[in-house]
Amino acid sequence: MTTQQPTATTEAPGGSGADTLTVIDNRTGTSYELPIAEGTIRATDLRQIKVDEGDFGLMTYDPAFMNTASCRSAVTYLDGDAGILRYRGYPIEQLADKSTFLEVAYLLVMGELPTKAQLDSWVHDITHHTFVHENVKQFLDGFRYDAHPMGILQSSIAALSTFYPEAKDIQDEENRYLQIVRLIAKMPTLGAWAFRHSEGKPFVYPNNELSYSANFLSMLFTIGGAYEPDPRIVKALDVLFILHADHEQNCSTSAVRSVGSSQVDPYSAVSAGIGALYGPLHGGANEAVLRMLRRIEKVENIPAFMEGVKAGNERLMGFGHRVYKNFDPRATIIKKACDDVFEVTGVNPLLAIAVELEKIALQDEYFVKRKLYPNVDFYSGLIYEALGMPADMFTVLFAIGRTPGWVAQWRELLDDKDQKISRPRQIYIGSDERDYVEIGAR
Ligand code: CMC
Repeated sequence: MTTQQPTATTEAPGGSGADTLTVIDNRTGTSYELPIAEGTIRATDLRQIKVDEGDFGLMTYDPAFMNTASCRSAVTYLDGDAGILRYRGYPIEQLADKSTFLEVAYLLVMGELPTKAQLDSWVHDITHHTFVHENVKQFLDGFRYDAHPMGILQSSIAALSTFYPEAKDIQDEENRYLQIVRLIAKMPTLGAWAFRHSEGKPFVYPNNELSYSANFLSMLFTIGGAYEPDPRIVKALDVLFILHADHEQNCSTSAVRSVGSSQVDPYSAVSAGIGALYGPLHGGANEAVLRMLRRIEKVENIPAFMEGVKAGNERLMGFGHRVYKNFDPRATIIKKACDDVFEVTGVNPLLAIAVELEKIALQDEYFVKRKLYPNVDFYSGLIYEALGMPADMFTVLFAIGRTPGWVAQWRELLDDKDQKISRPRQIYIGSDERDYVEIGAR
């Protein structure tokens, strides 16, 4: 297929100042005036542009949604060029510094920071929904010993829809709240149990006396008695969860919205999001970074590895982003969290390789020209490993952190009168009609 490059003409200098776009269809000579609102035109407005009455009308072709807003959202603001990330208007740096993960979860879901009473009640509700039905243990046991924890998490979250059939009643606000609380509350329990299953260790029940992040660590690591995580580790984990809590219309959130638009229950929608997050170009990148660093093994091997990346043989995992083209503000905060964690655990020996890779990449023309910078996943894996997590658990941590964002966006979708079932168009490029050929004649 040959594509003609778009051209801009400046024949009509000045412009009228109207918030419209004039389009001339050169096939017919007809001119159309399309309204511009919030920096966009409505794709459906193009449908009136036809060569004749039988024509379907003009569509846009935008694989991977490179330039299409699929919703209006008040949850997260992201300016990729300036490296800005805000949840409900609050800068990520301030939230990471001053807030807690559950307070941020409330902010994302409810839209405002909670009062003390609201926060207490929210934390109480989440804390008292961390247990899962005892039958869950049985189906977790059905997984092979080496099952990937993301596969376990995705299927067990989907399975929760069968434990809470009332979750289907998505128009009932009270019911919606309950399922949101359950999802945020049970994600660490199921994530930790996926880990314990692979370790062949007994499941540890949630401890209501502990904070969200301390409880998660306790369910992961308690064995033969009390487990007391270092408060600096708990804080670092909470910050990591905050940094992952939402990221507007990324691949997994779009999956949650797309599946949620069919009006299915939120467990099924969130499980679709977990599936999307699992992939190495999305949340799975943190695991891929660690495996890459291990494969590089020592600083001396970096130049040869980089040659392979530049030759297009593989990617420098943890680098690049669809939206950030300057720096990823989350990566800056994570680097600081690295220092805090390594103070407790000792420095991860892979850090030296990561630092050197970053240094080289930031000076290399290949990366500079393409605006490739470290993203959130570049350093997070080093922290997770220092916490004693195996690489295949990293994306589970991302999923726990992202859950408030998924449910906040799901809730927003349900209340958005503009939304309908998600259903993209296509350009059909297959065969014209042809007759069935009997198998012996093919
Ligand atoms: N290493 C080497 N080259 C890269 C990389 C990379 N990590 N990322 C992009 N490029 C090159 C790519 O080959 C292309 O070059 P060219 O123009 O010569 O063909 C150019 O940069 C543009 O890349 P793209 O694939 O068109 O960009 P995208 O916006 O579609 O992809 C991305 C974004 C994140 C998938 C990609 O940068 C990537 O694969 N990064 C590695 C995986 C990763 O770290 N993912 C985590 C993303 S952040 C966490 C999250 O939200 O999931």
